[in-house]
Amino acid sequence: MSDAAFTIAIDGPAAAGKGTISKAVAAHFGFRHLDTGLLYRAVGAQVLLGMEPLQAAQRLSADMLEGSNLRSPEVAQSASRVAVIPEVRAALLDFQRSFARRAGGAVLDGRDIGTVICPDAEAKIFVTASADVRARRRFEELVGAGAAISFEQVLADVLERDARDRDRAEAPLKPAADAVTIDTSTLDIEAAVAAAIRAIEDRRA
Ligand code: CDP
Repeated sequence: MSDAAFTIAIDGPAAAGKGTISKAVAAHFGFRHLDTGLLYRAVGAQVLLGMEPLQAAQRLSADMLEGSNLRSPEVAQSASRVAVIPEVRAALLDFQRSFARRAGGAVLDGRDIGTVICPDAEAKIFVTASADVRARRRFEELVGAGAAISFEQVLADVLERDARDRDRAEAPLKPAADAVTIDTSTLDIEAAVAAAIRAIEDRRA
């Protein structure tokens, strides 16, 4: 590919597989990848340590994105609580937009990439799956990483975040009008990645 900017927006509900698909898509096209959920998780983690949400968002630095507990359900919940605050979202906007327009192409995954951060993205995908399937995958991921957690707790986290993310006034979770939806409930990872790559190739044609 040339050095022109090309933005791929990948949105969807909690634990839909956005991260895995985004990494594979970025590797396929030779693009850089930004997991925007990690920005909110880093802010959420700082808030659990006692910082004000807006201050945490304004002071976000690379080392805050490397905390080992960022993937925990407690941090995820804190992330979705700070994510309803318009000023927090505004503080994270410029970084995401400049990443999206970098030369050589970029893949961003999150909740509002196709709707708010990059409404002009060249390709938009909305990845979804049933709540039960998403919770099952996240449960296996967390248990694989050594977490002591039940399936019911993971399902409750997923459902609670989805509701908060969908119902918020600012940048709610929803597919962009021009997004291609991929339901991965019955797809394995190879099939989901292949479907995403096909949808992006269609937009490039
Ligand atoms: O990995 P998972 O899908 O469970 O969550 P995530 O993508 O890491 O996002 C964590 C939380 O950050 C979400 O529940 C959202 O509340 C928030 N978020 C957001 O509001 N906007 C984004 N672009 C990305 C994440």
